[in-house]
Parts: sequence; C-alpha cells; structure tokens
Amino acid sequence: MNRKSIVVLISGSGSNMQAIVRAAQQRQWESRWGARVVGVVSNRPEAPGLSWARDQGLVTRIVDHKAYDGREAFDAALREVVDGLVPDGRPDLVVLAGFMRILTPGFVAHYEGRMLNIHPSLLPAFPGLHTHRRAIEAGCRFAGATVHRVTAELDHGEYLEQAVVPVLPDDTPETLAARVLTQEHLIYPRAIERLLASL
Ligand code: GAR
Repeated sequence: MNRKSIVVLISGSGSNMQAIVRAAQQRQWESRWGARVVGVVSNRPEAPGLSWARDQGLVTRIVDHKAYDGREAFDAALREVVDGLVPDGRPDLVVLAGFMRILTPGFVAHYEGRMLNIHPSLLPAFPGLHTHRRAIEAGCRFAGATVHRVTAELDHGEYLEQAVVPVLPDDTPETLAARVLTQEHLIYPRAIERLLASL
C-alpha cells in the first residue's frame, strides 16, 4: 500500500484539526489507507491548536505571516515548510482547517487537486468572513458548512461535503457558529476519508 501524507494548516484553536487527528486514530486511517497526519503548520505562533498537536506528538511548524513582506514571500516560505514535511516533498493532501490566510494563485496551483478547505457556510452562499452574522442578518432559516477543494477563487472549488443546521430565532453569530462547528467536525474527516479511499 502506498503511504499517504496529510499536512494540516491552522491559524487558531484547531478544533477541526483535532477532529481529523482523532478520526485518523480512531478509524485507523494508517492501516486502512496508509494515511497519516505528518504535520501541523500554523501561521500564528500563539495558535492554541499548536500546543494540542504537540501534546499528541505531532510534528508542528510555524510560518508567521508577519515575518514576511507580502503574500508571495509568505506563500513561498509556507510551501517550503509544507513540502519539507514529507521525504518526497509532495504531501498527498493539504488540509486547511481554520487557516485564515488568502493564498496566492501560485500556491494554490502548486497543490491543485490535493488541497481542501472547510468554510462555515452553505457555499456558494456567504464566501469570505463573518458568515454567521451575515446568515442571521439575511434571515436564513438554515446555515451550515462546506468542505471543498481549493481553487484560485476564494471559497470556490468542488464541494465534497456539506452539512446543514437550523438558524434558531434567538441565535447570535456565536451560538450559530458553535452549532455549525459540531457539524464541521463530522464532515471534514468524512470528506478526507472518501478522498483517501479514492487515491
Ligand atoms: C471553523 O469554523 C472554520 O470553518 C472556519 O474557521 C473556524 C476554525 O475553527 N474557517 C474559515 O472561516 C475559513 N475561511 P477551528 O480552528 O476550531 O477548526
């Protein structure tokens, strides 16, 4: 069986990353597909998800965007770190899990077909930021999350999984975000499993 390497990129609490790492352990991704999370990379040195990953014994890296002069320079450094996590320099999947940076077209092209993102809305509705507030303000009765392949256009690309939750009458962006997040933790590992099965 070919080995399959997964690199996870985070910026914050990394709860999706945790769901993915737990699913990999509990659902035996290694023995079923030879798949392993080979590293977690954060653009924020203080991201709480980093310490969780370290506690799990995972390899972690920091590429602090503030240390670079512009997107091109940051993305070049990020690419070197991500590719450097695997001996052949080519991770099979790059998984954006709450990674809050807009990526350059060159970076996206380099990982074409093997980079995924989760977005906290029912795309194509509400790409970009503040999705929960915008869904509430628009009077949506349903909200949700989407796992999609990453293309050069922000929050576009083939949808791999979606989950729907109700918007309740007294929801705030925070209560809605929490409801959506519980679904994210289900659909992201599931989308990755389906991809692993097809690689
Ligand atoms: C998640 O809700 C994710 O969908 C969102 O950030 C949160 C990260 O949570 N991502 C985006 O908004 C990307 N544009 P986490 O760090 O606990 O996984």
